Amino acid sequence: MRILLTGATGFVGGAAAADLAARGLLGQTVFLVRAADAEQGAARVRATLERFGTPAALAQSVTAAQVVCGDLTGVGEFASSPLLEGLTHVLHCAALATFSSNPRIWASNVDGTLALARAVLARSKLQRWLQVGTAMCCGPGMASPVNESWEAGAAAEAHLVPYTRSKVAVELALRELPGLPLVVARPSIVVGHSVLGCDPSPSIFWVFRMAFALERFTCAPDERIDIIPADWCASALVSLCLKPALAHDLYHVSAGMGANRFSEIDTAYAAAAGTAPVASRYQQVPVDQLRELVPLFQQRLGRVNRLLILRALMLYGAFAELNYVFANQRLLAEGIPPAPALTGYIGECVRTSEHVPMTEQMAHDFK
Ligand SMILES: NC(=O)c1ccc[n+]([C@@H]2O[C@H](COP(=O)([O-])OP(=O)(O)OC[C@H]3O[C@@H](n4cnc5c(N)ncnc54)[C@H](OP(=O)(O)O)[C@@H]3O)[C@@H](O)[C@H]2O)c1
Repeated sequence: MRILLTGATGFVGGAAAADLAARGLLGQTVFLVRAADAEQGAARVRATLERFGTPAALAQSVTAAQVVCGDLTGVGEFASSPLLEGLTHVLHCAALATFSSNPRIWASNVDGTLALARAVLARSKLQRWLQVGTAMCCGPGMASPVNESWEAGAAAEAHLVPYTRSKVAVELALRELPGLPLVVARPSIVVGHSVLGCDPSPSIFWVFRMAFALERFTCAPDERIDIIPADWCASALVSLCLKPALAHDLYHVSAGMGANRFSEIDTAYAAAAGTAPVASRYQQVPVDQLRELVPLFQQRLGRVNRLLILRALMLYGAFAELNYVFANQRLLAEGIPPAPALTGYIGECVRTSEHVPMTEQMAHDFK
């Protein structure tokens, strides 16, 4: 077995690298990394592994000889690397994962991914290409729970952000690539790590901090929010990548009907923060009325860039307003255990966020 992992310096890919390390597969893994040279790339992977709790001695075993230096927007520059030969599995986590309108989204997520798949196919006889998508690629207007199906997303004309459009477009294009043993895994919303809290990445946790500080957001108290921790997500992705036979070629990696309700998250967050739950003071605010909260920002969030906060709340609030839970029967039927509930590990997220300003956490999601 010889695995190519992309995106290993990121949130989901970093957790996947740590999962491969825990399975004793680090030595059989090759990494595609953006770096000046392979030594710097290996150093980035080692640092990420340690950030995700891999013991230092194991993390430090990654060498430059395992690193393909490169950017998805320039696959031609490394397509002939000998490290792309003899691969059996690809776990493709790398993507420009942002809700902003970064002009490089399509070049990275669609064109770059297709070019990488072609380059690998030309040099390796693959058993599986595990394409990490996003469950939100289904677009607005779906009935919840959203089913694990190719139809979810294929017909979506409207998208809240260019990122989700790019993620469904590349899946459909990969599906047309002759000889690619494609399996798509679509995670729901990844927040924190079930043991390390927000230390590896604060991505999206700041939304809860803001919602509770403002006592207002777009979701209803009894609404389920489909959140999964990075380590469980990564373990499910690695299992889907390596399992010799799978019943399907598309899966949600999600909490499904096991997802916590917003009110349960409120109670658990308050217990961890040593405050009272927002509970009866909470007001659900439609996304088009969020701008009325601007006067509250200074009062509740401190000195902040109000326009930036409003934009962030509107983007994330629009997704929350979709009120989606993502069905995960296929995943569970493959023998993958259910996701740990956010309420079970939110204490770690609160603890590891205590000394980090909300706006600093937010900046992580606006690349
Ligand atoms: N986080 C979530 O809630 C979530 C939910 C559903 C699905 N996903 C999916 O999970 C995957 C990873 O997301 P994430 O949250 O882990 O994002 P992330 O933390 O931003 O990590 C992205 C990774 O991709 C790499 N990358 C980005 N653009 C690249 C390019 N042009 N060439 C080569 N590498 C590039 C980054 O490398 P650098 O370190 O060099 O920037 C980093 O390693 C994505 O496919 C995303 O769609 C995430």
